[in-house]
Amino acid sequence: MALSEVIAERRKRRTPPAPIPSDREFGRLELLLRLRRNPLTLWREQHFQDPIVAGKSVLGYGVVISDPAAIRHVLVENGANYQKDALQRAILAPGLGEGLLTVEGDAWKRARRTLAPLFTPRRVEALAKRMLPPIAGQVARMAQRRPGRIVDISQDMTRLTYDVLAETLFSNAIAGGATAFGRALTHYFATQGKIDPLDVLGAPAWIPRIGRLRARSAIDFFARQIDAIVTDRQALRMSRPAIADPDGRDLLDALLDARDPETGTGLSEAEVGANIVTFIGAGHETTANALTWSLYLVAMTPDVRERLEAEADTVAADPVAAALAGDRLTMTRAVIEEAMRLYPPVPSLSRAALAEDHAGGVAIPKGALVIISPYVLHRHRTLWTAPRQFWPERFLPGERETIDRYAYLPFGAGPRVCIGQQFAMTEAVLGLTMLIGAFRFDYAGRDPPVPMQQITLRPQGGMPMKVRARR
Ligand code: HEM
Repeated sequence: MALSEVIAERRKRRTPPAPIPSDREFGRLELLLRLRRNPLTLWREQHFQDPIVAGKSVLGYGVVISDPAAIRHVLVENGANYQKDALQRAILAPGLGEGLLTVEGDAWKRARRTLAPLFTPRRVEALAKRMLPPIAGQVARMAQRRPGRIVDISQDMTRLTYDVLAETLFSNAIAGGATAFGRALTHYFATQGKIDPLDVLGAPAWIPRIGRLRARSAIDFFARQIDAIVTDRQALRMSRPAIADPDGRDLLDALLDARDPETGTGLSEAEVGANIVTFIGAGHETTANALTWSLYLVAMTPDVRERLEAEADTVAADPVAAALAGDRLTMTRAVIEEAMRLYPPVPSLSRAALAEDHAGGVAIPKGALVIISPYVLHRHRTLWTAPRQFWPERFLPGERETIDRYAYLPFGAGPRVCIGQQFAMTEAVLGLTMLIGAFRFDYAGRDPPVPMQQITLRPQGGMPMKVRARR
């Protein structure tokens, strides 16, 4: 192969798939269809070039912000002027109830104060030890398969992150088993997660939405399961002495013990249940997608794969300690961060403006929809070098510090920043290390995977991979 062909091939491998942005505006019907099928295809050339794009659409008056200073203004400096918008609530609230992700105002402030101690670095450290057995279990299940068999790795990652949550949240005390719960979750995301034109057009809630009706069975299933888990745990707590070491508790015990530091009040049973579902809903598909895309990107870049394998081999004796240490597994961490830059698991944040405001020199009228899209922001031509290419090196120590805090938002920012960020990063680093240490992954699809937004950013139809044991 000639040198120019080698370079072209490398560049191709470094430029993973993404919808090609259109340079024309969409009509009302096309916009609704794209919103429902794959909102990623709505972004136009202009969004990746301009710091702010404002205008009227079928969603009302909207302002798409990709200017880091303006983002800081909306999420932090004047954060009190912005609330989660009605469309987002219509998608998330039926499943997640009044959990931390969906509540607003004083209820949110109280919940955040009460739940913050559950995710301190020290708590995450204690929870990290509980992550190891479920991850090792997934590795063992994969090792039992016929070598070289093609599997949908996104399903494996969904199972892995579910098992980690089941263990850290409620010590795996799940009545119906992981498979039933996982299936209900997938069903929920596939039905409720599709944006309904009736919600977009602001139709009254009493008009039935097809997706919502189909999601009902999953929502009822969650409610029953969580109810049973909480009731069982309360019965168990009555019959056993309190766990003396707070680090020995799972998150359910911690939720039941949690007290608002200002008022000393605990959470109601309904709030405990809603937050369990919220932690699963918010922490399951997101981390699974981060791992799935990381594995894909690693499979496409043999030089990166070699570096990750070397890192995994050096920490094989104690991967948990290495995943918790900020200065080890630096390339593994950089790959996950770069994967979440190109394919942010939460590709879009949205807010409604409570009162008129200005950001980045643009007026934001009262009631306007403000969209901050990590997907657009992370590929913005003015903010990144080679924005469409996979270069994990940009997240290595020395380079990472040069990235503007508000140009990279996989976990959001400001008071509503992801409460599970350290939990998720520890899990992803530990998971990727153990997977790369044990197996070689090769992409086995006929065509490149198609990134699709359905609440989270996933590969449409899954991620087929050939998996072989390394040793
Ligand atoms: C790679 C994995 C994850 C990603 C990319 C992610 C991303 C995000 C983002 C972007 C937000 C902010 C949403 C907004 O501002 O509108 C958020 C909020 C939240 N996340 Fe995560 N998350 C992840 C994992 C987790 C995990 C593991 C948990 C819990 C165990 C979790 C629990 C939450 C909760 C409860 C909120 C709401 C916080 C609040 O409103 O105060 N997330 N997440």
